[in-house]
Amino acid sequence: MKMHRTEKVWLTASFGMIMMFMLLTGYQVFAKDMGMPSNKETIDWKKVSETAPFDKPGVYQIGDKEYEVVMTLEIFAFDPFDIEVPAGSTVHFTLTSKDVVHGFEIAETNTNAMVPPGYIQKVKQKFDKPGQYLILCNEYCGAGHQGMYTTIKVV
Ligand code: CUA
Repeated sequence: MKMHRTEKVWLTASFGMIMMFMLLTGYQVFAKDMGMPSNKETIDWKKVSETAPFDKPGVYQIGDKEYEVVMTLEIFAFDPFDIEVPAGSTVHFTLTSKDVVHGFEIAETNTNAMVPPGYIQKVKQKFDKPGQYLILCNEYCGAGHQGMYTTIKVV
């Protein structure tokens, strides 16, 4: 097969770019822990309030500077509403929706997840800097969507 020189140059360059992008993505996912949240537990969304652990939403200490926040999302609220943890804590969020698809985004961090009804979503975030962090719903969920938020205070 006869190949033009320019063709070879472009083939090599595009193959190199594909390899570079794959390596970069792999590095971000495995070394930087930037993979997509991909928990696959399901729940009967009509019985969220009766199903553990969502029958008792709240903040639970699970270790030294480790907390679990069990949280339910519904139109147009997060439960629990105000969360407080000490600086340096890693917070594991266990989330589910009681009605429609909601979003869970912690402003100024990389944490951003979709919370569809019928699924249990799990994300974690380490909070080093003290301050007040805003948690927003970023999936349009109805007329009160823009007022759906909660906060996490790091002290
Ligand atoms: Cu919940 Cu938008």
